[in-house]
Amino acid sequence: MTDNHIEVAAARQQPSQDAEASAALERAQTLLGRMTSAEKIGQLHQVNGGYSELEQQIRDGNVGSVINEVRMDTLNELQRIACEESRLGIPLLIGRDVIHGFRTIFPIPLGQAAAWDTQLIETCARVAAIEAASVGVNWTFAPMLDVSRDPRWGRIAESLSEDPYLCSHLGAAMVRGFQGDDLSQPGAIAACAKHFAGYGAVEGGIDYNTTNIPEIELRSTYLPSFKAALDAGAVTVMASFTDLNGVPATANEFLMQQVLRKEWGFGGFVVSDWDSIVQLSVHGLTANDAESALAAFDSGINMDMNSGVYSRNLGAALAAGAISETQLDAMVEPILATKFRLGLFENAYCDPASFPAAVNHDHRELAKQAAMKSCVLLKNANNTLPLLRETITSLAVIGPLADDGYEQLGTWVFDGDAADSITALAALQTALAPAITIHSARGVENTRSHNTDGFDAAIEAARQADSVVMFVGEEAILSGEAHCRADINLPGAQVQLIEAISELGKPLTLVIMAGRPLTLSNVIDKVDAILYAWHPGTMAGPAIADLLFGVSAPSAKLPVTFPRVVGQIPIYYGHKNTGKPPSHDTITSMEAIDNRAPQTSLGMSAFYLDAGFTPLFPFGFGLSYSRFEYRDLSLSAATLLPTDEIKVQVTLQNTGPCAAEEIVQLYIRDLVASVTRPVKELKGFQKHYLQSGASIRVEFSLSRSDLMFCNRHMEWVTEPGDFRVWVGGCSDTEMSADFRLEA
Ligand code: BGC
Repeated sequence: MTDNHIEVAAARQQPSQDAEASAALERAQTLLGRMTSAEKIGQLHQVNGGYSELEQQIRDGNVGSVINEVRMDTLNELQRIACEESRLGIPLLIGRDVIHGFRTIFPIPLGQAAAWDTQLIETCARVAAIEAASVGVNWTFAPMLDVSRDPRWGRIAESLSEDPYLCSHLGAAMVRGFQGDDLSQPGAIAACAKHFAGYGAVEGGIDYNTTNIPEIELRSTYLPSFKAALDAGAVTVMASFTDLNGVPATANEFLMQQVLRKEWGFGGFVVSDWDSIVQLSVHGLTANDAESALAAFDSGINMDMNSGVYSRNLGAALAAGAISETQLDAMVEPILATKFRLGLFENAYCDPASFPAAVNHDHRELAKQAAMKSCVLLKNANNTLPLLRETITSLAVIGPLADDGYEQLGTWVFDGDAADSITALAALQTALAPAITIHSARGVENTRSHNTDGFDAAIEAARQADSVVMFVGEEAILSGEAHCRADINLPGAQVQLIEAISELGKPLTLVIMAGRPLTLSNVIDKVDAILYAWHPGTMAGPAIADLLFGVSAPSAKLPVTFPRVVGQIPIYYGHKNTGKPPSHDTITSMEAIDNRAPQTSLGMSAFYLDAGFTPLFPFGFGLSYSRFEYRDLSLSAATLLPTDEIKVQVTLQNTGPCAAEEIVQLYIRDLVASVTRPVKELKGFQKHYLQSGASIRVEFSLSRSDLMFCNRHMEWVTEPGDFRVWVGGCSDTEMSADFRLEA
């Protein structure tokens, strides 16, 4: 069962972590007293691995961190030079993008999010940390906490949700997984809350594009996940590439000083994004590198990732009095403190003997579990799934992603190896042979290909089989950083291939692997079942095979809304009501409008003539092989006192044919407030595994902190008044009860 009540705002680090942080700070201050200005500036400099003068730079005390070097022997040698040959022996931070696994690849973050399982996501991060630490990495640039409501954006693959509550809980769990209870323990690595802030709101879903987010929206939607990650103990933050309301995040004092340090009391350090300091002049904020260095430094960016502008310019700025030694100390101090907290001054070296082998049996099992729990069953007409071994003798396995160990890993896989992957075709062959014959064909070369030469073989394979499973979607390279799409239909000739196979009239299941929600309106009626697998990682095959044949029932729910057509974007469940909300009674199809109908013919409400107002699949949606019934919603009281809490109970029964897991979701709405509030807001979720026929009483509690919102004065408050609460298996659930918050 997932705890529904991690107090995001109130959760603090353990007292022992606070004590350890203070001790690290004291040691950092003492060390600072012995450092030259040049050595201090060196600590602010992160250098790309493989740089030709790296060793000498480290020896000279000019490097604080290395990124993108993962050869253990090299890393141990660099640490040896730093610890033994530099004047003060300051060890290095070794950074790497460990985004959804290191060697064992778990589902992409958006896929992991579909499991709505804080324990699972924490364990995946833990294993990723252990594997990364086993080569000497001690810092990951994760979790990405950017709420995103735009599936065109390639980086939605890295996001954890469109929803601030889900994103907060899952992000905090990732931080705990990476960092453990004690950063100095073997296998713990520093986390980095990125990209601060608002990156997910890039205009038009184009990566790096400008963002314009009113402060109230920033605080309500985009900042809570960062606050939650810092409360969970994340020791570093990365600035976003983007500009926010006209000021690039890398020089944004409001974000870095006002919010992060003053309001939240963040004591760790901020790293720029890759070259984002030099890019300040590309944004047009500064005229040259010297100005860029100063702007970033002044705003509170401690470390310069890759560009070298700090290293080249801060010495002169100090000499000219543009920055002070005190300011410099304040920038270096948390970097040193982080190194102390990581225990690097005691031991900076990596000893592989203290770690389990990467991609071992347990890690694979976890990856399989994670993949299984992340696949969302979107359609299952006529109980097409699960496939029954007893009733079929042959299966067609078709499509470009059925047997591609590389593409199933998804974006941001620097250290995973496709050779470790088990594909769906391989897993199905293992599971089914010899009883069930598999006829396989790729159909198209890759997901983008328009060449239909392979269609005949695919059609023939389907013709020979009792049932057909097609593995379609997007290759890994079609999502991720800088890989945005304006058209998010299945690319290439895949839709044509589906149409051709569908004409055979065989039971047809789509397994879709993709880095984003795709628009599926053009295929949904042509197939019987759809299992949305995202990019499931190393163990995609065994996980999908088990789901297809009912060894386990799908349990995942969508962490993002699926639009019908791209023009609906942004479409998300927690929207505002507007003054003219649409209803199913008033909208109709464009074709049905009478000739010369009067302007008011459709009731004057907020919808598209050609796409209505509902998504194809709402947030929180996901089917099972079983069925769950919700009934008897009750509240422990009709009114809530500010110091009290209200218990929300519902009976959940598995009324379907098999044991299955359900994700129970609780939503609220503040019916009247001094600023308009979303029509629904997620405020709790739990997972329950029930045998067929079994029922339980599920209980959530709501307290005042769950009802808070950001008001016109940017204060987090509650206002007395009426609230509605819903509990169900999807954001479109209708069973509700009302209560009143007293003053
Ligand atoms: C990305 C970051 C990443 C960094 C280092 C940048 O391009 O925006 O998310 O951590 O590269 O690889």
